Amino acid sequence: MPLLGVNIDHVATIRQARRTNEPDPVWAAAAAELGGADLITVHLREDRRHIQDRDVRVLRETVQVPLNLEMAAEQAITEFALQVRPEQCTLVPEKREEVTTEGGLDVITHRDKVKRCVDQLLDAGFEVSLFIDPDADQIDASKALGVHAVELHTGSYADATDHSIRRGELQALVAASNHALQLGLKLNVGHGLTYRNVGPVAAIQGLSELNIGHSIIARSVFVGMEAAVREMKRLIMGRGL
Ligand code: PXP
Repeated sequence: MPLLGVNIDHVATIRQARRTNEPDPVWAAAAAELGGADLITVHLREDRRHIQDRDVRVLRETVQVPLNLEMAAEQAITEFALQVRPEQCTLVPEKREEVTTEGGLDVITHRDKVKRCVDQLLDAGFEVSLFIDPDADQIDASKALGVHAVELHTGSYADATDHSIRRGELQALVAASNHALQLGLKLNVGHGLTYRNVGPVAAIQGLSELNIGHSIIARSVFVGMEAAVREMKRLIMGRGL
């Protein structure tokens, strides 16, 4: 059964709206664990728009499940990761002006920069994953860097409004998943997954982890974090709500 990484960034987004100390993402992580989260995921963005350095440090002390740090392939953030020592680092592309991570990391174009960061993280003994589009060339380039895992971007699948386009995007995800698995890569997925669209993705054979944030945090406003995570876990297990 694939694992669920709960991305708690948007709890920090609410806190930062008032630059106060509530709601605390550290509380969110504890509640998510009570609901069955298998990993806690946070994205320390260069502009610190939601998660702060302090959050990652306190989470490192308090989270009982593995901590997955999403980060840009930048030296300053790499040094921070080396200090904090998350179990997994997921390298993501980052542009200051985007609302959320919009496309996958282009491992072919930015190979040297990504490699500098990957090498340091691998030397430190962390599990390293690259967040990429479901594209065979990007998967090959990721494998060549010696990473453990790829996280395939599910945004095109999630955003498809037309049924046949969505089916095509799912087929592309399945093909890319098979390619990654044949190369011996661990297979993770994420972005834009919701209670409505997660089922077919969770059913992909060989899948290790799903990283889901916005939809779980949105539901938690109404049902509480623990219940929101538990409900997502049920869907991933194919049990329905
Ligand atoms: N995986 C990665 C690499 C991401 O950057 C994000 C967004 O921060 C997610 C998963 C979660 O996406 P969403 O919030 O749309 O569930």
